[in-house]
Amino acid sequence: MTTSYLNLTPDFDLSGRNTLALKARSRWGAMLEADDQVPALFALAQDRGLPLRILGGGSNVVLAGDFDGITAVVATTGRKIIVDATDHVVVEAAAGETWHDFVVWTVEQGFGGIENLAGIPGTVGAAPVQNIGAYGAEVADVFDSLVAFDTVQKTFRTFTAEDCAFAYRDSVFKRDAGRYVVLSLRLRLPRPWKPNLRFAGLAELAGQAGLDPSMVMDRVLHLRGAKLPDWRTTPNAGSFFQNPIVTIDEAAPVLAAFPTAPNFPQADGRTKLSAGWLIEQSGLKGFRMGRAGISERHALVVINLGGADAHDIAALAEHVKATVKERFGIALHEEPVFL
Ligand code: EPU
Repeated sequence: MTTSYLNLTPDFDLSGRNTLALKARSRWGAMLEADDQVPALFALAQDRGLPLRILGGGSNVVLAGDFDGITAVVATTGRKIIVDATDHVVVEAAAGETWHDFVVWTVEQGFGGIENLAGIPGTVGAAPVQNIGAYGAEVADVFDSLVAFDTVQKTFRTFTAEDCAFAYRDSVFKRDAGRYVVLSLRLRLPRPWKPNLRFAGLAELAGQAGLDPSMVMDRVLHLRGAKLPDWRTTPNAGSFFQNPIVTIDEAAPVLAAFPTAPNFPQADGRTKLSAGWLIEQSGLKGFRMGRAGISERHALVVINLGGADAHDIAALAEHVKATVKERFGIALHEEPVFL
């Protein structure tokens, strides 16, 4: 492994490094281009008594203005095929790779398995942290292993799926925020490819002659494009609220009043309600408050209307939570991390 020189940039601008386009600067910035720079950077931060935080693609964060420390961006690159067997392949990508580019690359290799996860913003390193998911699939389904730096033990560690303790939009990396820096990810993609077409909008592809992963990927990108605003033109952080998983008793008033409300029974007897539906039914789709708003296209997406800061975003989120709570008695929880 090559060790590249650790370079700190003063007064590092983060405005273009978060998809909500919140204005934020960091006293110092660092681009991490090799895994062994990570322990070196933690040692340096400790020596200088500076707080250190890690940023991936900035697509799931709400940055609270200026940071008096070091913000390091994981910028490692590289993708490779580790195992190419008759019944599966194992592919690996560095944490700094763009997730969507990694998906496209696997599809180009003829490998199916993550085509349903195309178009999700962010980096490979962030994908397992919140166990990204869409269209009936999630990273945990095809996870093989990952390597992360443990900032407490100061060692590199390999994690199995069990170690990661994946759950809906959750993992040990999210629960123990700040402890680990994910450095590379391996996925195990089964052969032969079996399309996952359970989700509405994909089901119609079933039975289509010559169906391949790229056709499913194209459909997913089309569905996303039709429904979710693009952060490049309408700054946002994807789904801003998690779909609440509640007990049957908690869901009862909602389902009694709206028998057709979307709900997805879980293995543990609880049910998952749709936050987007709850917000829309609360009359908040397209709602605006100061410089932040709820997308007119998808009620789960909070958008920066121009010049918003973390306070605008938080105030809007509080209003949404209070309104949904009052209307339905259901508590919503934010998906992005407030840094
Ligand atoms: N709905 C509404 N109003 C809306 C939006 C949705 O009533 O404005 C209803 C829809 O009618 C549908 C239900 O809510 O019955 C579910 O909506 P959708 O299919 O759009 O999915 P979602 O549950 O809102 C989840 C993920 C998305 C992912 C989609 C597609 C979460 C929090 N969000 O959204 O992930 O793309 O499914 O699979 O799990 C993300 O995490 O950033 C993200 C975009």
